[in-house]
Amino acid sequence: MKIERKSTSLIDNKEKNRIFNFYKKYFSPHHWNKKYFNQFTKDNQRQSLILVAETNSNNLAGLILGRRDKNNKYFFNLSIIVVDFKYRKKGIATKLMKELISNLSKGKTKKIIIHFREKNNLKNFYQKFGFCNFKIIGKYNNGDNKCFMELKIV
Ligand SMILES: CC(C)(COP(=O)(O)OP(=O)(O)OC[C@H]1O[C@@H](n2cnc3c(N)ncnc32)[C@H](O)[C@@H]1OP(=O)(O)O)[C@@H](O)C(=O)NCCC(=O)NCCS
Repeated sequence: MKIERKSTSLIDNKEKNRIFNFYKKYFSPHHWNKKYFNQFTKDNQRQSLILVAETNSNNLAGLILGRRDKNNKYFFNLSIIVVDFKYRKKGIATKLMKELISNLSKGKTKKIIIHFREKNNLKNFYQKFGFCNFKIIGKYNNGDNKCFMELKIV
């Protein structure tokens, strides 16, 4: 299993489609449309970041997507973390998260921010990586509670 950062400026359409299809499979029916996904992944101003976990036979096993907060360039919004069903509980999300934190620690990021649906029950998962200050900050369009956590980078 290898973790790789995909360059948002060099990534071709075929690879973008592969990542979009992987993402969509796990976030249906509330997934972003293709247009938003494309905008997100080439947002140079906010330095979009794509990390993938790939098996030795080049199958996508996991994905992280994020970008700088639009109001504060020192904050990074972790928008998506997902691991393929058949590879879960094998430490892939941990590898992705560690790579993300190590990547962002080298730059100017002071905080990683995450929002997630309460029903996904991910508070303990994020806590393992040091995320804290859990709170419910509102609702998603479908009425699900929207949760917030943050990780300060030293
Ligand atoms: C959450 C998710 C990314 C975890 O991936 P994973 O590769 O199975 O995670 P890991 O194997 O690295 O597990 C790390 C730790 O978190 C725990 N964990 C994993 N999934 C968890 C979950 N859903 N809730 C709580 N804890 C979880 C594991 O038990 C493990 O703990 P341990 O180190 O004490 O054994 C995966 O379940 C997933 O893709 N979920 C659906 C997508 C999603 O909801 N993403 C988040 C919103 S963007």
